Amino acid sequence: MTTYPWEELRERAQEAMSFAYAPYSNYPVGAAALVDDGRIVTGCNVENAAYGVTLCAECGLVSELIRSGGGKLVAFVCVNGNGDLIVPCGRCRQLLYEHGGNALVVLMPNGPMTMRQVLPQAFGPADLEEVKE
Ligand code: THU
Repeated sequence: MTTYPWEELRERAQEAMSFAYAPYSNYPVGAAALVDDGRIVTGCNVENAAYGVTLCAECGLVSELIRSGGGKLVAFVCVNGNGDLIVPCGRCRQLLYEHGGNALVVLMPNGPMTMRQVLPQAFGPADLEEVKE
């Protein structure tokens, strides 16, 4: 059984959460993930006066992943303003799936779960291949 640096990821998520811009919901979120080359990438939520344009913490995390060289997400954590673990929202599960696949391990409030469990039968890059010319 692989071990993951959950404590470090949680600390990094909490640090990222402290930079959140969440004046509308007052619900800051921080996320952190281990990449397959050992890097840790993080993100925080960034809200907007046009509420629907809000960027979840996972959006910032994926953006940092790509900006800092890409790679595959291996383990993921997100926390709220109390430092409690939270579940990633549905849209963000899709974002995470794109860059972690079924094997990505997400630390849910009740313990680690794979992406295969968190987003079963996900739509992904392989589905697009089926109609490529
Ligand atoms: N939020 C995230 O950043 N990630 C999630 O997975 C759940 C929700 C943010 C969006 C919004 O700024 C605030 O939490 C309240 O919904």
